Amino acid sequence: MKRTSWIDVLLISSIFTLTVIIGLFIFISGDSKFQYSFSSTSNSNEETKKIPNEKNPIVQVQSKYEGIQIYKETSKDPTIPYTVLYPITDFVKLNDQIKQYIENAKQQYITAVRLQNNIDKSVPSNLNINLNIYKYKENYYSLVFTKQESINGQFTDESFNTIFFNQDSGEVINSKALFNKNVSNLEKLSKYVYQKMLEPEGYKENINLSQWKKVSYPYWIYYDRFAIVNETFILYYNKGEFANEKIGSPTISIPLSFLNPILAPEFQSKTKADKTITSPSKGEKVNSKRVALTFDDGPNNTTTLQILKTLDKYEAKATFFMVGTQAKSNPSIVKEVWARGHEIGNHSWNHVNLTKQSSKNIQWQYDTTNNVIFNLIGQYPTVFRPPYGAKNKQVTELIDVPVVLWTIDTLDWKYKDSSKLLPNIQNNIKNNAIILMHDIHQSTANGLDSVLSYLQQEGYECVTVSELLGD
Ligand code: NI
Repeated sequence: MKRTSWIDVLLISSIFTLTVIIGLFIFISGDSKFQYSFSSTSNSNEETKKIPNEKNPIVQVQSKYEGIQIYKETSKDPTIPYTVLYPITDFVKLNDQIKQYIENAKQQYITAVRLQNNIDKSVPSNLNINLNIYKYKENYYSLVFTKQESINGQFTDESFNTIFFNQDSGEVINSKALFNKNVSNLEKLSKYVYQKMLEPEGYKENINLSQWKKVSYPYWIYYDRFAIVNETFILYYNKGEFANEKIGSPTISIPLSFLNPILAPEFQSKTKADKTITSPSKGEKVNSKRVALTFDDGPNNTTTLQILKTLDKYEAKATFFMVGTQAKSNPSIVKEVWARGHEIGNHSWNHVNLTKQSSKNIQWQYDTTNNVIFNLIGQYPTVFRPPYGAKNKQVTELIDVPVVLWTIDTLDWKYKDSSKLLPNIQNNIKNNAIILMHDIHQSTANGLDSVLSYLQQEGYECVTVSELLGD
C-alpha cells in the first residue's frame, strides 16, 4: 500500500509538471502578437530568446490606423542588410499569415545572399519590404507589401503581397468574396482587365501576350493580389510576370463605382457611375447564341478529367451537377473542376428520388452535399438539379438556389455510344438550350470533342447554367 501511494504522488506530480510545460509552450508559440511585442521592447523576457533574429533591432513606427501597430525590423549584419515593415493586428490568425510572409521573404533572401556572398562582396545586396495601409468604408483595410530585393547586384526582384480584411472580425476577404462568389462576375472582370492592360501607349509591345492571357485568365486566385485605395480597385502584378523591364511591375486601377454591378453588396461604392462594367460598350461583340452544357452524377477520376481537357481545348465552360458521395471520394477532381472555371451544382447526396423523401431527408441530402463541396472549394454550389429531374413543391421550397432541369436530354446513359452523342444534340439544338450529359461515362467523354467542334462551327458559346439564366 505504501509503495502504491508513493507511485501515485510521483505520477500526479509528473503530469502536473508536463501540463505546465505544455501550457507555457502553447502560450509562447501560439500567439505571435506576444512574440512581436516582447521583441520590440527592451524587456529581457525569456520569450525574447525564442526569436531567431533577437539581435536585430525592431522599433515600433507610428500608425494612424486603429487596431494596427507597425514595426520595422532592420538587419544588424552589414553583409546581409535588410529592412522590413510589418503590421500587427488584433487577430492572431491574420498576424500568423503576415509573419509567415515576412519570415519566408527574409529566409529566401538570406539564403540567396549566403550562396552568392563569396562571388563579389563589393556589390551590396538589399531587401526592402515596405508597407502601405489603406482604409475602405468603416471597417475594411488593405495591406500592401512591396518587396524589393537585389542579391549582389546580380538579380533584382519587385513583387507585391496584399491582404484585404475586415477590421471587426479579422476575416480576410479574397477576390471570390469581393465579387459575390459569382464566376460570371469574374469572367466579366477578367475580360475587362485583359483589354485594359493593353491600352496604355507602348504597353502592347512590351507585354508577352500569351503570358498575359494566362495571368488574366478567370481563376479566382489570379485576382487575389488587390487593394482598395480611395474607392479604386487596384490589381498588382510582379516584375517579370508578363511584362518586360520597360514596364516593370504594372498595376491596373478601376474605379469601384464602375465595378458596382459585379461587387458583393457590402463592397459596392456609394458613388454612381455613368458607365459600368456591364453597360454594353460599342464594338464589343455580344454573342447572342449560347448553350449550357451540364454533366451529372460525377465527378469521376478518369472520365471527368478527360472532359475537362476537351472543354479547355474549346475554351468552353460547363456546369457539373455533382453527387455528394462522388465529390467526397474524388476531392481533387472537385477542385480541378472549380479551378478551371466551371460551375458546380448540387445533385443530392446519393442520387435518390427526392419526391419520395421526407422534408428532413431532402434537407439532409442537400446540406451534406453542400458542405462537402464547400470544404473543398470554399463556396457552396450555386445551382441544384434533383436526381431523375424529379421535383415537387416540397423540393423547390427547401432548396435555396435555382433548381435547374434541362431542355435537351442526350440519353448518353442509355446508348453509351460516343457516335450517338452529337446527332442527338444536332437534332434538338437551339439558342439557350441546357444540354444534359453524364461525366461518368467513357462514351460521353469520347464523344464530347465532336459536340464542341459542332457547337463552335455553329457559333454557339458554351456558358455555365447561371450565366445562361442570369442575363
Ligand atoms: Ni443524375
